[in-house]
Amino acid sequence: MLWLLTLHIAALLVWAAGLIYLPVLIAGTHTDSLALGDSPASADSIARWVFTRIASPAAALAIVAGSAVFLVNGTTDLWLMAKLTLVTLLVVAHAFSGLLVIRLEAGKSVVPASRVLLVSVLLLMAAILWLVLAKPVWGWS
Ligand code: HEM
Repeated sequence: MLWLLTLHIAALLVWAAGLIYLPVLIAGTHTDSLALGDSPASADSIARWVFTRIASPAAALAIVAGSAVFLVNGTTDLWLMAKLTLVTLLVVAHAFSGLLVIRLEAGKSVVPASRVLLVSVLLLMAAILWLVLAKPVWGWS
């Protein structure tokens, strides 16, 4: 079981780093292309590479390993249900960063949305880490 939890934590650390780096990278790439008067980032932007080759595989591995820990442990405590609800929002934020990569490559405005995404991701991760480390006791727990 420990190796499953280790795999879960290792994958979520890469996923979390990707989710923090992507909005910064997307906003930075857009600003640079404006400054240099370059054409918008092409369809093989580094942002797309980070999204498809690092953040998305890490997300899949973190979710599969976490689900395996969940099945092996059989934990049904309310804090874990609350955690998984927030993780669902993190998956939505992940999808949104993919949308921003497409907008970046189309030369559309991405900076305000990248800022909102970065703040949302940081708040969600802080709340998830608090729940999974503090394991608060509520209701039927
Ligand atoms: C669908 C996705 C996920 C599932 C099913 C899942 C499930 C689990 C389960 C069952 C545990 C063991 C909890 C215990 O009994 O101690 C665990 C541990 C953990 N999870 Fe997740 N998790 C998911 C996503 C995440 C995400 C996105 C994060 C962080 C951003 C995260 C952070 C952690 C941490 C830090 C631990 C270790 C807690 C400890 O040291 O006690 N998990 N996860």
